[in-house]
Amino acid sequence: MTTAGQFHHIVLDVSNLERSVDFYGNGLCLEPVPTNVVPSEGPAPTAVFKTDNGQYVVLVESETVKPDGPRCHTNFMLAPEHYPEVFERLKARNCLVKDHMVEQGRRSVGVLTTYLDDPDDRRLQITSYTEEAFLLPAAGRGKVVAGRVDDFPVGSVTHIKEGKFFLVRLADGVLALNQVCTHQQCNVTYQQEHYSFWCPCHNRKFTRTGDQVAIKKDVPPLHKYAVEFVDGQIIVDTDTTLPRMQDDVDKMIPIPPGVATAR
Ligand code: FES
Repeated sequence: MTTAGQFHHIVLDVSNLERSVDFYGNGLCLEPVPTNVVPSEGPAPTAVFKTDNGQYVVLVESETVKPDGPRCHTNFMLAPEHYPEVFERLKARNCLVKDHMVEQGRRSVGVLTTYLDDPDDRRLQITSYTEEAFLLPAAGRGKVVAGRVDDFPVGSVTHIKEGKFFLVRLADGVLALNQVCTHQQCNVTYQQEHYSFWCPCHNRKFTRTGDQVAIKKDVPPLHKYAVEFVDGQIIVDTDTTLPRMQDDVDKMIPIPPGVATAR
């Protein structure tokens, strides 16, 4: 069953139905289903397959196969336990193509993905998310001394490399934000000119307090670390990363009276 925001089926023109049935069924390992699960659109011979997501792929033999537009491709989401078998089958068919993002180390942790071409040279992609993709790691550097409160002017956002976090100082307190993006674990950077964090992997943006900047938010706020103040120093516990809810995303940790002298 498909849910809101997903398509029910796609129709792909193919030049040789038998060849494509073999590719989508035995190569891509889609499940063949009766052709009457989707409405027929004419007399052309069709074959229908079901994806791991419960959507349908309809193959229609056609004399002219229209190529996809520039930079378009069709991505099939696979269950993680299904991915290795499909990958090996496609590799044996020599249809895999190079993924420059993998070569450049730009794919996120826990994401398995490969580009390939179907028999009509249509660009496809298979993708799977393992459990690892959804676990957000803590820096694990123990208690890190960020510096004296007065070292951080109000309005500043400072990357503390040793602890892999950002120390945010605003008028009503401080926050220590985990540098790991809550989408798929790339590292965010702070863009001073925009007063916001940016993740280069899939272009998510976050405010200075770690809330996603988007009309339709699809990832939680950046995680934070616990902070304590000892002898005027800010100590950050980087062993436990703390998720935050939308409601408390702007909540700063107040600086105890007498700890800060300068503004
Ligand atoms: S990892 Fe995808 S936007 Fe950050």
